[in-house]
Amino acid sequence: MDRIRLVGGNELRGEIPISGAKNAALPLMIASLLTDEPLVLHNVPRLADVKQLERIMENHGVDIAVHGRRRGEEDVGQRMTFHAADIVDTTAPYDLVSKMRASFWVIGPLLARCHEARVSLPGGCAIGTRPVDLFLYGLKALGAEIDIDEGYVVAKAPKGGLVGATISFPKVSVGATHTILMAATLARGTTIIENAAQEPEITNVAECLVAMGAKISGIGTRTLTIEGVEKLHGATVEVIPDRIETGTFAMAAAMTGGDVLLKGARPGHLQSALDILAQTGVELTEEAEGIRVRRNGNGIRPVDVDTDPFPGFPTDLQAQFMALMTMSDGVSHIRETIFENRYMHVAELVRFGADIAVNGQLATITGKSQLKGAQVMATDLRASVSLVIAGLAAKGETVVNRIYHLDRGFERLEDKLSRCGAEIERVAG
Ligand code: EPZ
Repeated sequence: MDRIRLVGGNELRGEIPISGAKNAALPLMIASLLTDEPLVLHNVPRLADVKQLERIMENHGVDIAVHGRRRGEEDVGQRMTFHAADIVDTTAPYDLVSKMRASFWVIGPLLARCHEARVSLPGGCAIGTRPVDLFLYGLKALGAEIDIDEGYVVAKAPKGGLVGATISFPKVSVGATHTILMAATLARGTTIIENAAQEPEITNVAECLVAMGAKISGIGTRTLTIEGVEKLHGATVEVIPDRIETGTFAMAAAMTGGDVLLKGARPGHLQSALDILAQTGVELTEEAEGIRVRRNGNGIRPVDVDTDPFPGFPTDLQAQFMALMTMSDGVSHIRETIFENRYMHVAELVRFGADIAVNGQLATITGKSQLKGAQVMATDLRASVSLVIAGLAAKGETVVNRIYHLDRGFERLEDKLSRCGAEIERVAG
C-alpha cells in the first residue's frame, strides 16, 4: 500500500492551483441521470471518488467520455461528458454504493426520470452512523413508496411520476438537499425545500439544473422552490474550485509559515474559515488570481471554533484546523457539531506530540507543541490530510500510511506541496 513520506520544517512558498471541488463534481455527475442529452462538465478533478462514481454511472448505462487536455491547460481539471441516453439499470448495487456514500444520491434522479430505483443503503462510515432518514422523508413527501428490502431502498414513484410538495428538513443535510432538489426538477407541480443546505456545492448543482432547463428559485438560500418541468436537456457546466482544498492549503501555509498564492480560490466559499484563520494571526489577501496566505515569523493565536453547516465553519476543515491549533500559543477548543465521531485524527496528532483532550463533541487543544515527525495513519480523507500538514510543520520524518484516503479527495497533493518547497514524496508498496 502506498505511503507518503515527508520531512517537516520547510516554509511553503509559491503558487498552488486549486482543483475542482470533489463534493460538487460528484452530484453534478449524478445530475446527468436526469436527461437523455449529454451533460458536459469542465474542471472535474482527477480523484478516486470520481472514478468510483464513474463505475456506478456506467452501470446505469451512462456513456462517459474524458476529453483531451488543451494547450496551456496544465493545471485545469478534466473535461468530461456524461450521456445517459438510456438508463438500462435502476439498481445501484451494494458493492459499488458501499465504497462511497454520495453514490446513494442517484436515488433522486433515477426515481424522478425512471419512476423507480433500487439503491443499496450506504451503511456506516468512519466519521459516524450517517443515516438516510431525511432522504426517505423527502422522497416520500414527493409521493414515492419506499420499502427496505435486503439492505436496499426500493423506491417507486406514483403513476405519472413524483409530485411536488413542501419538505421541511428538521436538520440540514447536504446529501438530502442535493437528492430532493434533483428529484423535484421532474416532479409534477411545485416543491419547496425548507431548511435546505446552502453549501456552494448545492448552488453549483442548482445552477447546473437551471442550465439544463429546471425552474429553481431561492438558489443559495435556505428555501429552494422548484417548479417541476417535463424534461431536462443537456448543458455545459463548470465545477467550482474546491473550498476544502483551499482551506487545507491555507492552514498548511499557516502552520509552516511562508507565502502561498492559492490560485483560483474563491474567498466567499470559505469566508468563515478565512475569518478564523485571520484571528489566528495569518495574513490573508484577496488577489485577482486567488487568495494569498502569509505568515512570517509571528506566532499562532489560539481560537475557538464550532463546526456548522454553511456559511459556518466546515466540518471538512475541522481536522486540519486542529493540527494548526496544536501549534498555537495557548488553549483552544473545537466543537464538532455535524458528525458524532469525527475525532479519529486526535490519537494520531497525539503521536506527533500534540496535547489534545476530547470530551464528547468538545476537543481541547493545548499549545504550543513542538511537533515531532511520526508514523501515522488515518481513517478518513480530511483526517489524513491533517496528518500531512502536521508533518509539514513537525521536526523530522513523518510517514502517513493508508493514503488511499487522500487519493479520494486531493488531486496531486504531493506535487502541489513539493512545488512550494515541501519535502514530500509518495513511496510505493
Ligand atoms: C456532505 O456529506 C459531504 N460529502 C461531506 O464531505 C461533508 O462532511 C458533509 O456534507 C457535511 O458538510 C459530499 O458532499 C460528497 P450531510 P453528507 O447529509 O451529505 C446527518 C468529505 O470529506 N443526516 O450534510 O453525507 C448526518 O449523519 C465528506 O468530503 C441524518 O441524520 O452530509 C450528519 O450528522 C465527508 N439523516 C448530518 O446530518 C440523513 O438522512 C450532516 O450530514 C442525512 C444526514
